Amino acid sequence: MSQANQSSHAIEIEDLTVVLGERTVVCDLDLKVPVGKLCAVVGPNGAGKTTLIKAIVSLIKPVSGQVRILGRPFSVSCREVAYVPQRSGLDWDFPATVADVALMGTHHSLPWWKGLGRGERDRATAALAAVGLEELRDRPISNLSGGQQQRVLLARALAQQAEVFLLDEPFQGVDAASESAIMRTLTSMRDHGKTVMVVHHDLHAVAERFDHAVLMNVRKIADGAVSSVITPENLRRTFGTRVGFDDLGQREA
Ligand SMILES: Nc1ncnc2c1ncn2[C@@H]1O[C@H](COP(=O)(O)OP(=O)(O)OP(=O)(O)O)[C@@H](O)[C@H]1O
Ligand SMILES: [Mg+2]
Repeated sequence: MSQANQSSHAIEIEDLTVVLGERTVVCDLDLKVPVGKLCAVVGPNGAGKTTLIKAIVSLIKPVSGQVRILGRPFSVSCREVAYVPQRSGLDWDFPATVADVALMGTHHSLPWWKGLGRGERDRATAALAAVGLEELRDRPISNLSGGQQQRVLLARALAQQAEVFLLDEPFQGVDAASESAIMRTLTSMRDHGKTVMVVHHDLHAVAERFDHAVLMNVRKIADGAVSSVITPENLRRTFGTRVGFDDLGQREA
């Protein structure tokens, strides 16, 4: 286990407040995610989920609050963190192949004077195999389906060999085959001791497949073990009256 893993919490957030324009979009948020959990971030559209993830990886500057990754500030532990943004925000016409994108995940681990070597190529190949994209390695990314795009982003993150993974809606617009390939990969990462935080809209999937959940709507509503967090009362507080028992089917019956 790396030195960075000495903290029992992969992510610790204290009093985080983010203002965008005139609006407070994340307010006074405290959060602790233990190492080795598969953690879902759940909330309605506009709840501040993407903003939270971006604040964790210092892409957005909060007006107040502290973020620690594996016990250290992000600026120190950034190499231990892989961030997978929402697919829809990226330029898929960029002239790169599937293998190029996976290789990008290995770049940051190289000293500036060294070119890509066998080790980096092997890591990229293993990452593509893990997400089932080996056969598409030479395909331009402009020719991928939505599910394949999502998997290539996951391969790039895997090739980084990080400890903490933050994924913003990796299941958005993917078919059942890609969904299960991605879910299998995330579960396997967790089984290897990685911490995986995923913005997710499917309450059924969260209830069945995740360990930990954060419910938020600008403020944090609840966090902890899925079984204690995904309750009718917490869902009402998060989504108002739009989501309730029925959205969880028999689980809440
Ligand atoms: N650059 C910006 N300037 C002003 N407001 C913004 C900006 N970016 C996002 N917002 C607002 O901040 C709020 C939170 O946005 P965010 O993208 O974090 O929500 P989200 O929970 O990820 O939503 P979704 O489920 O739709 O992805 C929204 O009301 C959004 O309109
Ligand atoms: Mg979002």
